[in-house]
Amino acid sequence: MGAFVPGAALGQQATPPPPAAELAASLATANARIAVWDIPDIDLLPDDENGRLVRYGRSVLEESARHIGPDAADPAQRFAGNNLACANCHLDAGRKKFGLPLVAAAADYPRYSTRSGERAELADRVDSCMTRSMNGRAMPRDARPMRALLAYLTLLSSALPKDANIAGAGAGAIPLLDRPADPARGAVVYAQTCVVCHRSGGEGLRRNAVDASFGYGVPPLWGPDSFNDGAGMNRLITIANFVHDNMPNGVSWVMPVLAPEDAWDVAAYVASQKRPHRVGLDRDFPDLLDKPVDTPYGPYADGFPQAQHKYGPFGPIGAEIARLKADKGRVPNPNVR
Ligand code: HEC
Ligand code: HEC
Repeated sequence: MGAFVPGAALGQQATPPPPAAELAASLATANARIAVWDIPDIDLLPDDENGRLVRYGRSVLEESARHIGPDAADPAQRFAGNNLACANCHLDAGRKKFGLPLVAAAADYPRYSTRSGERAELADRVDSCMTRSMNGRAMPRDARPMRALLAYLTLLSSALPKDANIAGAGAGAIPLLDRPADPARGAVVYAQTCVVCHRSGGEGLRRNAVDASFGYGVPPLWGPDSFNDGAGMNRLITIANFVHDNMPNGVSWVMPVLAPEDAWDVAAYVASQKRPHRVGLDRDFPDLLDKPVDTPYGPYADGFPQAQHKYGPFGPIGAEIARLKADKGRVPNPNVR
């Protein structure tokens, strides 16, 4: 007879489950991390108005160029300025851990936006990706693609408590370098690991050579049809983590291919390329102490040069921001109001 007797374990008195209210309260505490994502199956939704809206929303996310791109069939629906898809960055239709998931977005909004200095609805957050990542214009709240995106995002979050904190949010957190990230070294990584898909001019690969509304098999990383310089992906910490945990396409944070150092340098190479410019970026972040250390455009509250905000090292900037916060509380952006 072995030491392990399954029957004995099963026969033990089970701890009674906590009452539902208590469980809900513990989930709702600020720092609870929800590790198991409970996402309803969209294909099982009934074929009613909401079911159709949610499915259309998923399609807008995955086939953005077709529905809202610059060459979309209906000129009134051309909101995006490039032919990217939301899901080129929000991987697996917004359901991939450390692939910029959107699973908790509807649970997290409305909330205060440090970038605008105002309370932001979920629709405002969608518009900020529309005007930056998609280099386009804001969508009216009652436009069908906007209502559909919101319905899809609301469904993704429907099993989560308000302000839920999910495991796998964002793009990850590889260790910071203590030197500036190096675009020249990154060019070598790019030639070895990225060029086969994203191409030597960073232009990616269209699905259809004639009709851009088919979107991309491989999205561009820079150039006129890429995200603009105000996008989150144009910040080095974001893109380095995204690339480390998701590229070459198909890898995941569980088994990354790139060494962190290579991810930093190849991200620097991408960041050093030309992309569309968004006007008015100097008015982002009314409190300059809220500005992420890797924001590549000024003004800044600290004395560090723009190049260091773009390529790092970020550690000293973070330390100075923390010191200024303790000292002054806030530093108003001179370009606001
Ligand atoms: C080029 C990459 C890219 C594209 C394309 C893109 N996004 Fe984003 N999105 C991001 C990044 C990066 C963030 C996180 C921003 C940050 O850290 O400042 C984000 C954040 C968001 C959030 C907030 C998530 C949260 O939980 O706070 C929403 C909602 C969102 N995006 C929706 C969209 C939608 C809808 C589209 C398409 C219309 C889209 N995005 C296209 C990169 C992208
Ligand atoms: C096997 C082909 C392949 C390789 C190799 C590859 N990528 Fe990608 N990349 C993709 C695809 C496809 C997507 C869009 C994913 C989706 O839509 O699900 C993507 C998306 C991206 C994005 C976000 C979308 C955008 O347009 O900005 C970035 C950034 C990125 N890749 C960078 C890189 C870097 C840097 C490397 C090299 C380290 C790399 N990729 C290697 C295929 C690839």
